[in-house]
Amino acid sequence: MTEERLVAATLIVDDEAERSLRPKTLGEFPGQDRTKANLAIAVEAAKQRGEALDHLLLYGPPGLGKTTLANIVANEMGVSIRTTSGPAIERPGDLAAILTNLKEHDLLFIDEIHRLSRTVEEILYPAMEDFALDLVIGKGPGARSVRLAMPSFTLIGATTRYAMVSAPLRDRFGSVFRLDFYDPETLTVIVRRSASLMGVSVPDDAAFEIARRSRGTPRIANRLLRRVRDYAEVRNSGSVTLEAARAALAMLDVDDLGLDDADRSVLRCIIEKFDGGPVGLETIAAAISEESDTIMDVYEPFLLQCGFLNRTPRGRVATAAAYRHLGMEPPRKSEVQPTLWSAEDGEAPP
Ligand SMILES: Nc1ncnc2c1ncn2[C@@H]1O[C@H](COP(=O)(O)OP(=O)(O)O)[C@@H](O)[C@H]1O
Ligand SMILES: [Mg+2]
Repeated sequence: MTEERLVAATLIVDDEAERSLRPKTLGEFPGQDRTKANLAIAVEAAKQRGEALDHLLLYGPPGLGKTTLANIVANEMGVSIRTTSGPAIERPGDLAAILTNLKEHDLLFIDEIHRLSRTVEEILYPAMEDFALDLVIGKGPGARSVRLAMPSFTLIGATTRYAMVSAPLRDRFGSVFRLDFYDPETLTVIVRRSASLMGVSVPDDAAFEIARRSRGTPRIANRLLRRVRDYAEVRNSGSVTLEAARAALAMLDVDDLGLDDADRSVLRCIIEKFDGGPVGLETIAAAISEESDTIMDVYEPFLLQCGFLNRTPRGRVATAAAYRHLGMEPPRKSEVQPTLWSAEDGEAPP
């Protein structure tokens, strides 16, 4: 994997360095104010009643703090958290085993919950609703179903694809929160907090530079901070300055808006190979040898947010702003496709 891909392509990976920077309480977690305020009330109310917290679904692009918030909620509730993911639970029995091992009020975190299979999901419905496990004993005509009681617990689901969570599952969550991209000011606070945990001194202008080029994403901000620190150690006798930050980001091919090589290749592909679009997601994926899921989960949300990309009923379209960002002349207005929301991927409209 080349240097330039480091920012976006590894966005989903969760490593040790990252865990060490995770805030542990709502108070230490900058941003997402609406979600935090609602969570604080829900946690307080559940604690006062001595009940398990209501089930909670968190969704939004990778790196915005879903896993972190799940751990914070467990911490604030004073309960244990058991973490798993949709693809890791292959059979209904696997989930049943996890559920029977939970203790009263424990928290079960299922990441990528949209990837649970239907048969596994069906175990979850009575568990979420009635704290009950419906098990089928035997096979064929003699099979019968028994219902076992289980401890009351809290399910926290996380997903990058809200639209792919089935309706019956979605309906069983007491609250649903969407995490948004962070503004540069909030990301600056995060960069400074991480820098101090890492024992690196970062002046305000350098922290802001890293923040505003982090695609609105704390995970990327932390990652860029580490790369800037590396650069400063090797090239600037350990001193992180604005110039060192700029030079390090230039070496990583992170541009002025925080787009990296992979983001730009999506735009360039649409513009140069498909006349600006519309072009289908799968076609783009094939043309740049990238997984369509990665394009949709990792690159697209930010390109949409920047106003560089539109989804239309016939596919993706590069906007005039995208042409200009790449230093190209946009086509005349009349040639630009109308921007309508597309149902092609079953995504919710923005
Ligand atoms: N609001 C925040 N403040 C500080 N750090 C954050 C915040 N949100 C996310 N992070 C950091 O970014 C990284 C990715 O967060 P994570 O919760 O794993 O994102 P997600 O689960 O949504 O992909 C973690 O290291 C986490 O500490
Ligand atoms: Mg996560």
